Amino acid sequence: MTIQRTLSGIALSAALALPAVASDYLSTTTRFTDDNADAATRVLFVPENTTIAVEGWSDAQNKQVARAAEIEAFDGSAAQLTTLVAPDGTKANHLLLAGVGNPAELSRFKAENLGASIAAALKPELDDVVFDTRLIKNPGIAAEISAQVAHGIDLRNYRFDRYQSEAEARPQTNYQFVTASADIAEKHYEDYRAIAEGVFVARDITALPGSDGYPEAIVKLAQKAMQGLDIDVTVVTPEQVNEMGMGLLESVSAGSQHGSYLLAAHYKGSDDAPIALVGKGNTFDTGGYNLKTSSSSILRMQTDKAGAGAVIGAVMALAKQQAPVNVVAIAPLSHNLISGTATLPGDVVKAGDGTLVEIANTDAEGRLILGDGNWFANDKFKPRAIANIATLTGSKVGALGTGYAAMFASEDDLRQAIIEAGKVTDEKVWELPLDGYPGIIDSPLADIRNIGSPGTQAGAAFLKHFAGDTPWIHIDMAADAMVSSPTGIHPAGPTGFGVRLLTEWVHQLNK
Ligand code: BES
Ligand code: MN
Ligand code: ZN
Repeated sequence: MTIQRTLSGIALSAALALPAVASDYLSTTTRFTDDNADAATRVLFVPENTTIAVEGWSDAQNKQVARAAEIEAFDGSAAQLTTLVAPDGTKANHLLLAGVGNPAELSRFKAENLGASIAAALKPELDDVVFDTRLIKNPGIAAEISAQVAHGIDLRNYRFDRYQSEAEARPQTNYQFVTASADIAEKHYEDYRAIAEGVFVARDITALPGSDGYPEAIVKLAQKAMQGLDIDVTVVTPEQVNEMGMGLLESVSAGSQHGSYLLAAHYKGSDDAPIALVGKGNTFDTGGYNLKTSSSSILRMQTDKAGAGAVIGAVMALAKQQAPVNVVAIAPLSHNLISGTATLPGDVVKAGDGTLVEIANTDAEGRLILGDGNWFANDKFKPRAIANIATLTGSKVGALGTGYAAMFASEDDLRQAIIEAGKVTDEKVWELPLDGYPGIIDSPLADIRNIGSPGTQAGAAFLKHFAGDTPWIHIDMAADAMVSSPTGIHPAGPTGFGVRLLTEWVHQLNK
């Protein structure tokens, strides 16, 4: 007799059944056309101080629209959205007025959010929706806004619903954007689509439950998602982790039947030295023997692999864009459980670089696997910069909540680029200081230990030790990996935080 524990009996196959291409994620289609088109639902983009009218509709019909808009107090200000019944004699049933304010000043994330709110307002069973951007007079700006709105719609339409036997229907809609420079809009959209697909993979990786999404399953999932892309994938197995001496990474899975892996995904789109994105892939965090003892602190700790999702998603996005950059995602993957073989508080473990580390708290595991991840990055790839991203500390949540991720940077150019990327993508970062805490991770027993105070700075100091002299940034994204209710471009569930931020960071550095 075989014992099937929850869904984990079918774990690997369930992981493999994850969608890997965009058409599996979204049943919608998006097109851009120079010609007017008709549909039962028409979205009209309206700049401020503009007479509201649909080109091709009669004066009487447009008068009716203008009157309805006035009654609804719609004035074209940015992000305003009003649904009207379309006037008699037109081919539309509904007319949605979408305010774009001053189109030249509509930011990328405002346009994406407008798209998201339109997606939320449209019924999933609609066959066709036409987006009319012809009131935006500058064709280049109209094209850009069209692509960004379409991107916002895609991001919002994602669902993590494979654990629902009767999932809500997904939208099947054909979206058609009527815009003067359709070919330019299409080009922009392709770059955004690449990002969206990276975000979807990151969201899947984040949300997969702990018993199904263990290290080997995440490796398989990522391999499948990256199939056909120009990405060189290296898988370091638990045996190889041991042979290579990555004791920190090994120690976190010591209490689990699932050993630690390391995945490296290299996209070489230029001859520059690579940028290494090293993300935390702790596939479940019980805390180890420093057990998370409250139900609220342990629940959702499958999202402790969101950093790995972010770096894999970002490299996928850059590869799909065929960006002229050299970038490698490194994802150390562990399963922080307890058993007779688990690491004990106070154990001393040897890192890949030879540092002897006192594991003073088994719940400070993210920095352990990332420490060896940084060593691996330096040793195998000689990167020009390392970025760490991780759901690393509870103290980050106390300091910044979810409005900002905490950020540390060793060099000014890296710092400026990540701040700018945060503004562009609305995945905002706030820098915390790292000087002023001498001896923060000193150990009375070994070379260093894995805890210190303040907590977020101690985590950062630990990571920086293993980055060595390589220019470095670190993003602590604790609590940013998931939202409990739909917010802007995010449906309820995993956010894929970091994919948009890191993709933009790499572009900024390449400017
Ligand atoms: N994965 C957690 C951090 C976390 C907490 C993420 C809440 C998301 C929400 C991390 O591994 C952890 O447990 N950190 C401890 C470290 C402490 C024991 C030094 C923390 O910050 O409480
Ligand atoms: Mn922990
Ligand atoms: Zn953790």
